Amino acid sequence: MFSQDDLKRAVAKAAIEYVPVDSIVGVGTGSTANFFIDELAKIKHKIRAAVASSEASAKRLQGHGIEVLSLNDAGDIPVYVDGADEITRHLHMVKGGGGALTREKIVAASSKKFICVCDASKLVDVLGNFPLPIEVIPMARSYIAREVVKLGGRPKLREGFTTDNGNIILDVHDLQIMNPVELEAALNQLAGVVTNGLFARHGADVLLLGMPDGVKTMTA
Ligand code: 5RP
Repeated sequence: MFSQDDLKRAVAKAAIEYVPVDSIVGVGTGSTANFFIDELAKIKHKIRAAVASSEASAKRLQGHGIEVLSLNDAGDIPVYVDGADEITRHLHMVKGGGGALTREKIVAASSKKFICVCDASKLVDVLGNFPLPIEVIPMARSYIAREVVKLGGRPKLREGFTTDNGNIILDVHDLQIMNPVELEAALNQLAGVVTNGLFARHGADVLLLGMPDGVKTMTA
């Protein structure tokens, strides 16, 4: 019987195949990304460095003796490897369960290929069952919450949490996201929104999905 961690470990191992020799690797955040970091450590002599999407991932990479560059010093990155909270067959995602969505979106945008690593539980037909995180400038909290209600969502402040960028997170419940590309753009238009956790306009390029009978590869 495979545990969820076994599936995460399997996709993390599979993602190593996508890392070019002598490259700077974009690294995501979360428990699946942590397995990837541990796999990356095994081939650290074959890569140049990493760019991390959170302080937590940077610390874990450095703990393994992998050099962490700031994105501004890295230039274009060939691959970014990260998990997701939900993903569809179109490779649209909800991310940000760990609160790192803004840096994740920035590093992903600077990368040629997004390799998403997930256990099978993350694959869904429609996004929204997992509350959609929105990173918000603190003074805009109530305004954004009211706007989100108009869009049919039920926003909840992530209590006691501050992002690496010093902002707050509103987790939006009760959304059935039929058109993720449109909703991503609409939320980004609201003054005070830093980033929302929809990765639809630029989704993943490859999904490595951990199933009990092996790792399934899906492309957009
Ligand atoms: C963090 C994220 C993670 O990728 C997402 O929460 C999935 O995490 P995990 O691999 O622990 O299930 O977006 O901000």
